[in-house]
Amino acid sequence: MSKLAVLGGAPVRSEPYPQWPVFDQRDIDAVTEVVRSGRWGGFPYPGPQSKEFIRRFAEMQGGGYPVLMVNGTVTMEVALRAANIGWGDEVLVPAMTFQATAAAPMAAGAIPVIVDVDPENYCMYPKKAEAAITPRTRAILPVHLGAQMADMDAILEIAERYNLVVVEDCAHAHGAKWCGRGAGTLGHFGSFSLQSSKILTTGEGGVLLCRTQELADRAASIIDCGRPHDPEGKVFTMGGNYRMSELHAALGNVALERFSAQAKQREEMLGYLEESLSEIPGVRLLRRDPRHTTRSFYMYGFAIDPDQFGGERLGVVAALEAEGIPAEGGYSPMNRYDLFQPSNSKLAVPSAFPKYFKMEELHMPEAERGAERESIWLDERVFRAGPQGIDDMATALRKIQDQRNELAQWVEVQKAAMRR
Ligand SMILES: Cc1ncc(COP(=O)(O)O)c(C=O)c1O
Repeated sequence: MSKLAVLGGAPVRSEPYPQWPVFDQRDIDAVTEVVRSGRWGGFPYPGPQSKEFIRRFAEMQGGGYPVLMVNGTVTMEVALRAANIGWGDEVLVPAMTFQATAAAPMAAGAIPVIVDVDPENYCMYPKKAEAAITPRTRAILPVHLGAQMADMDAILEIAERYNLVVVEDCAHAHGAKWCGRGAGTLGHFGSFSLQSSKILTTGEGGVLLCRTQELADRAASIIDCGRPHDPEGKVFTMGGNYRMSELHAALGNVALERFSAQAKQREEMLGYLEESLSEIPGVRLLRRDPRHTTRSFYMYGFAIDPDQFGGERLGVVAALEAEGIPAEGGYSPMNRYDLFQPSNSKLAVPSAFPKYFKMEELHMPEAERGAERESIWLDERVFRAGPQGIDDMATALRKIQDQRNELAQWVEVQKAAMRR
């Protein structure tokens, strides 16, 4: 076998993985038609493209009253506001996710309370969520991270007992199902991002699935400058303009035509990848929960014992990338995000909320271990290149393991260069 590609050897894979997003003439025609129609914007809400898109999206996901918005961060903010959650209320968020999951409650004026993750799936640990509940807790915001779903049975049971609103962050889970029910249809709200890297994309965008028509009417009002959207026209809210444009929605309608075939392709290759990875020493697969009946995902995470791969997780990520495999380091532990610096949010000024934002004193052992020491994340593109794409991934990881001493030396050289 050749030298590691980071050391100048030939990469395992020289052919690029399939690009994302996928497009063809249909997308160009759909956007052209909207341009010609003159109906570009999202007002009045919903326009014809938007209406069609959310109807089909909710049908695909298996339920919910949908509202279309500009991204998958405001969807969560609007969900909380529609449920009357705001100033001083506490919202439980997991310690391993994109910063938006905590930024959204802060935008609503609420306080994100960080809950450590279950090391077996890197999603919010229900027992720790329950332990974090106080009289101010109003909502729980689990994230279906990577190819995992949070334990929704446990979360819904806790929410029921403590009368909490559940907002599922499904930015990674379009098409995923829990006991046959669509992600985002289990809680009071399901929030989906349609940002360009996501597996269903309109360039930028978000869909909020609401459990009741009443919640959806309130959410629609909030995104439409406070105009009433209830049948009697009586419910005004404190709203803004978070409407998606018809140009974006048109792209969504075409993307939906391709979605299920792409998701099926990824799920088929997932089983094959897991078989290959489970044969590599020092690799730990995350939990395969039988209740997670359809695995549709945006990125795929697994854990390594770094000592069996040269000592440094990010060294392995860099080595995989050099071998032609789209891999990433993933998210930081939530308690380490700059978001909580007082300079970035007045909520985080220690004198205002001394109890919450002393991040240096907050430890999330599982998220810190997962995010900083052991997790490796693969891009969804790895799963759309057939069995060869998976074989190349497994070959690259074995190659790295075989040459772990050389990788460790390379990492030391990089670190020394950064110190200089
Ligand atoms: C877990 C998670 N939640 C929320 C978001 C926010 O979505 P958007 O970028 O559409 O605001 C993302 C997007 O990257 C995400 O990964």
